[in-house]
Amino acid sequence: MSANMEDRDGFIWFDGELLPWREVKAHVLTHALHYGSAVFEGERIYDGRVFRLAAHSARLRNSARLLDYELPWSRSEIDEATRAVVKANGLTAGYVRPIAWRGSEVLGVSAIGTTVHLAIAPWAQEGRLSVQAKPGGINVTMAKYRRPGPDSAPGGAKAAGLYVICGIEKDRALGAGFDDALMLDWEGRLAESTGANIFLAMGGRLVTPKVENFLDGITRRAVMGLADRRGWAVEERAVMPEELDEATEVFLCGTAAELVPVGAIDDRRYQVGPMTRALMEDFQTLVRRPDSEGFGESAHFATMD
Ligand SMILES: Cc1ncc(COP(=O)(O)O)c(C=O)c1O
Repeated sequence: MSANMEDRDGFIWFDGELLPWREVKAHVLTHALHYGSAVFEGERIYDGRVFRLAAHSARLRNSARLLDYELPWSRSEIDEATRAVVKANGLTAGYVRPIAWRGSEVLGVSAIGTTVHLAIAPWAQEGRLSVQAKPGGINVTMAKYRRPGPDSAPGGAKAAGLYVICGIEKDRALGAGFDDALMLDWEGRLAESTGANIFLAMGGRLVTPKVENFLDGITRRAVMGLADRRGWAVEERAVMPEELDEATEVFLCGTAAELVPVGAIDDRRYQVGPMTRALMEDFQTLVRRPDSEGFGESAHFATMD
């Protein structure tokens, strides 16, 4: 199979139909391509099931709403479409990319008059995506751009336009020999990496930035649930970058990354410690449970339905 995403075998669910992979196209004058109005999800298939499918579909609908449009498919219709396209592609392990966007009927800053589209594309993929784990942990650098404040952008949306600065920072990090970049929020607090959330281990407890206008990760919620089951306290609060000096372990987590230990953030060094290792193991068990498609510990997303 070609590495080119356009040139693959298989099927993509597109506006209600399962179409051959190479036939699914959007026109060059599509609103989303010009003005960043697409919203999307990243999901993982483990043992033939999409982990927290319900939460992902609900968050997708909510992301569109945060950009002032409504998807004409219910959460359960999106779940069903996802299951159908995963099955049509015969996948038991892989990644799923649902993406919704505003079409090409009119072109201008306003999207009024465009139709809403949805495509769901799954492909085979094992192991981590986005950041490759390293035995001693990945190397992270601090980003220059910050996540925007609530008066600048709807940061809770997983919207294409909001990834522009993530892409710039990721490329800058890779170009400088790092694996990823860590972004602060508009007030200088720790927020997230370019494609994952962050946890710090400090004095036997876990600390993670309280979500304020950045992506509320489904993996982040799963990790909080796993920590809770182990009886470990998790503090969700404002975390200042200076606190990175006190952390003994740091890890990133996200659908593509799973749990990835951080070995260094610029000149700070961390061990791949026992809390990170235990949670990595717990996570691999959790994603393979037969009930893994439901909201689980991400019940919070059910309200976005
Ligand atoms: C910017 C950003 N933050 C956090 C996450 C983690 O979110 P989730 O665990 O829902 O994949 C992602 C990945 O989707 C992301 O792109």
